[in-house]
Amino acid sequence: MAKKFLSITEAMKKASGKVNIRGWVYRERGSSKLKFIVLRDAETTIQCVIEKAKLGDEKFKIADKLQVETSMEVTGEIKEDKRAPTGYEISVTDFNIIGGSDKYPITKDQSPEFLLDKRHLWLRSKKMSTILRIRSTYTFAREEFFQNNNFYRFDPPILQPSQCEGGSTLFEVKYYKDVTYLSQSWQLYAEAAVFALERVYDTAPTFRAERSKTSRHLSEFWMVEAEAAWMDLHEITELAKEELKYCIKKVIEKHEEDLEFLGQDVEKLKKIVKKPWPTIKYREALKMLKEKNNLEVPFGKDLRTIEEETLMRNFDTPVVVTHYPRNVVAFYKPADPANEDEALCFDMLAPEGYCEIVGGSQRSLDVKDMEKRLKNEGEDPKNYEWYFDLRKYGSVPHSGYGVGLERVLAWICKLDNIKDAIAFPRTMLRKSP
Ligand code: 4AD
Ligand code: MG
Repeated sequence: MAKKFLSITEAMKKASGKVNIRGWVYRERGSSKLKFIVLRDAETTIQCVIEKAKLGDEKFKIADKLQVETSMEVTGEIKEDKRAPTGYEISVTDFNIIGGSDKYPITKDQSPEFLLDKRHLWLRSKKMSTILRIRSTYTFAREEFFQNNNFYRFDPPILQPSQCEGGSTLFEVKYYKDVTYLSQSWQLYAEAAVFALERVYDTAPTFRAERSKTSRHLSEFWMVEAEAAWMDLHEITELAKEELKYCIKKVIEKHEEDLEFLGQDVEKLKKIVKKPWPTIKYREALKMLKEKNNLEVPFGKDLRTIEEETLMRNFDTPVVVTHYPRNVVAFYKPADPANEDEALCFDMLAPEGYCEIVGGSQRSLDVKDMEKRLKNEGEDPKNYEWYFDLRKYGSVPHSGYGVGLERVLAWICKLDNIKDAIAFPRTMLRKSP
């Protein structure tokens, strides 16, 4: 009969008796009679003790030569042991090597660049696997959130003929005898979809040829977008807050220890999720910057990292900033009828220097104005005729937003750099492995 294997977590739950587990050698040390192996699987590690007296000379010799990252199956008796790193120990009665390992290139104290070169191996580190598990929980939670709120999942094209967020960061792709572009945002297609499905969401790869080498920019990232017919600016900002709170709660429920391992203060995060997240206007933000932070920003200037960071020193939860000046926003963001120099748009900023995590708006219904703005950006409005069609046939007010998945993960996992929020980061300076 085939052996039945337990995950290490399941084996620890069993807590006593015979178990079969499998995984990779995480650490090894030993003497001429005893060998201690810390074995890891996808979730955790466990100490395994191999005794020469129990396994015999031949088998012990094999154990003695085990290198880090060797994959193996282990059979033995599990018991609680307070001294062991994860509180349990397996006294090994037999083991099988599945895949041997060369001398593992990753040792302590290596530079971030080296670890990025070896990313295919570094994914196995406790830090990266912890982040990737949290990422998986987060993306599942948002599927749940939207499905529970009567949104349909809608999958947009990745190859798109035109820009949505400014031509300068488009990645051009050869397309038969022509060219096309990698998606900068699914938004324009989501707008088409709301006239069919009313409420849609997606998680899609997004590409921007960013010239910035910051800890907040990737060239390939995942944008989590939502678009809803009939919703106005206020409703859409409240939806964005609810979505993020829901997902963060789910992450806290499942990953308290993981978050602590990453250096996050879980109690603080729990409080953040419970508190209301304020919404302020851009003009109020400018006033606050001047009065509280002694930083003068004239109306009409976009908030860059420095202004966002300074503003967020006044808050300990995310904040929604609405009504940015029209001259700094994308062509599809409409003027506020009450104040033509302001747009019905918003950004959500995270505390502790993580800054912009969400961008969204109500959508303009004024084709003439959008044409003019596109022309000013050097675009040919002809390329947007299909998009303008949406305003011709039963148009309705609608709004949407995009969440930068890696930006949110960087914040909740307290990461120094956004690159660690994704398995294989792509930046201006890195496209492999
Ligand atoms: O603010 P952005 O550019 O908004 C849009 O693309 C809208 N079309 C979305 C919509 O309304 N459906 O981007 C949305 C979010 C930003 O707030 C940020 O979190 C993230 O995407 N983002 C990036 N994340 C990592 N690296 C980059 N280069 C990013 N650029 C934007
Ligand atoms: Mg933005």
